[in-house]
Amino acid sequence: MRVLFIGDVVGGPGRRGMQAAMPALRESHRPDLVIVNGENSAGGVGITEKTAKGLFDAGADVITTGNHVYRHREVYDYLDRTDRVVRPANYPHANPGRGHTVVEAGGRRVGVINLSGAVGMKVARLPFHEVDAILERIEADCVLVDFHAEVTSEKVAMGWHLDGRVAAVFGTHTHVPTADARVLPQGTAFISDVGMTGSRTSVLGVKPELALRALITQMPARFETAEEDVWLMGAVVEINEKGLADSIEQVMLPAPPG
Ligand SMILES: [Fe+2]
Ligand SMILES: [Fe+2]
Repeated sequence: MRVLFIGDVVGGPGRRGMQAAMPALRESHRPDLVIVNGENSAGGVGITEKTAKGLFDAGADVITTGNHVYRHREVYDYLDRTDRVVRPANYPHANPGRGHTVVEAGGRRVGVINLSGAVGMKVARLPFHEVDAILERIEADCVLVDFHAEVTSEKVAMGWHLDGRVAAVFGTHTHVPTADARVLPQGTAFISDVGMTGSRTSVLGVKPELALRALITQMPARFETAEEDVWLMGAVVEINEKGLADSIEQVMLPAPPG
């Protein structure tokens, strides 16, 4: 079976770009499951029930998130109700939402786990311990992990930690795609960061002049989502009968005008 993972969809331009790019992607890659990181889907920061539904309408089957998941208060209740949107599992247990889910795809039970890095980010438990605990109890034929983390060292380490135990580890959060996609020796597909789905005329999705002003003046700034030159970025993994990866292919394409 094939899984398409799509990196952080940024705002309306990202959502519309994903929607416009999906028909051709379905045609070329024929994914059985589409996982989308939606932590930036609402106005560039956070997610709401409405933007989650927009991503589902655009073709997502499961949505993962990250450090911006709790930005919009109105999503908390939705996170508790849905089993199709996950937030980092290593956040406090009592927080809204769940850290993993199991869905049916390609005739198999597919687990999706969302983890947050601990280096430079706020977590309640280390992602390494958290994922070990989940893998002990999850009932799935194969497992995919969105590792939402800041530094490449921690991401690469997670790849080795999970090699041979999950089908794929997709890095997210930096919004910048890395050139290290590969299948590790024991059969886990890995990439440090798949990148984002949003405007490339931007600084991680934000209008360049606003991000630059904030960096140069060191003053608080109001960020706006950039709209030009939207690209979809992600990766496609082919999963074998053993629940491990045969291949990983990076996906980066300009969204057709929608
Ligand atoms: Fe993000
Ligand atoms: Fe993030």
